[in-house]
Amino acid sequence: MTLIRRLGRAANVTLRRFGYQVIASAAKPEGRGGAPAPLPSGAADYLRPDHPRLLELERAYARFDSRATTPLLWKRQHVSGYDLRYFRGDNAYVWQIRDGASEINYVLTAYYVKTIDALGLLDKLQEDELLGVHAFTVDGRIVSRDLLDSIVEINFLQRQLAISSRQGFTVLDVGAGYGRLAHRMVSAFPGIGPYFCADAVAASTFLCDYYLGFRGVADRARAIPLDRLEETLAGRRIDLAINVHSFSECTRDAVEWWLELLRRHEVGHLFVVPNPIDHGGERLLTNEGVDMLPLIERYYRLLAKSPKYADPALQRHGIQHTWHYLFEAKC
Ligand SMILES: C[S@@+](CC[C@H](N)C(=O)[O-])C[C@H]1O[C@@H](n2cnc3c(N)ncnc32)[C@H](O)[C@@H]1O
Repeated sequence: MTLIRRLGRAANVTLRRFGYQVIASAAKPEGRGGAPAPLPSGAADYLRPDHPRLLELERAYARFDSRATTPLLWKRQHVSGYDLRYFRGDNAYVWQIRDGASEINYVLTAYYVKTIDALGLLDKLQEDELLGVHAFTVDGRIVSRDLLDSIVEINFLQRQLAISSRQGFTVLDVGAGYGRLAHRMVSAFPGIGPYFCADAVAASTFLCDYYLGFRGVADRARAIPLDRLEETLAGRRIDLAINVHSFSECTRDAVEWWLELLRRHEVGHLFVVPNPIDHGGERLLTNEGVDMLPLIERYYRLLAKSPKYADPALQRHGIQHTWHYLFEAKC
């Protein structure tokens, strides 16, 4: 870890208590070699802040239950500060280099992932560097945090729930962002789906809807507008709810709102990945310090908890260390 990165992390321990943090300035959305970051055709026309579909979602979310939508972190400036066209870039969805992570951290992480990737996903899933993502070439393969995190998360779920052999395994991803894990999960296994992506931020639903369509997986993975979620889930079995770096960014009320929804729909398992903040993800805290564990334990019991990287050295030097938690519903 560079000295600057160490200093930034140390300062953040104190600053986060006051709602601030040090963030390295993110690079402009450009591809490797300084060329403009590649965009798929049609993306620039669709991914506009004044797109009618986005405005419609914003109006619907503004009318929705404020327990779910009142933001902790995701206020307007949190999403409007970046270019929608480059939503896979280094921004609030997936930090890639702004926490000081550089090529060496990606190299270490990629080699680590090779050692735990029992499913062979590094060979199966690809990174195409589109839409502003930061990518590095390691061992002849293009890798990004989108790809590496997803493979680590899927392998964790495989060890716990054997998801690769399940048929019609249904998922509800809460705070799904642009659909990073949805895209990777359904691309990895034909038996996964429907995979529903939910969010309380209109721009996230808008981007997710676009992204899953662009990736050609919308037949099995779909962004569900918040005001259509209840009717979508009604009468369905949901095997697994996923929450990666999103409960941490919610108010206590919103976490409770989502947990009540999971209980109402009798969701069998819950996978949670908290933000590392100043405890490395060893605790289930929101960014404002609310302990989510007792809230979750009203309805779920802990089945497994493990560090994202089994090697403590990787927990220090791998990209975005944290812990993985799996819960099962109490009867
Ligand atoms: C750091 S991003 C993580 C995105 C995604 N889970 C991933 O790992 O790629 C946090 C996500 O939480 C969502 N979010 C923020 N407030 C929320 C709330 N009250 N309820 C549900 N999701 C929320 C944001 O819209 C965003 O998609």
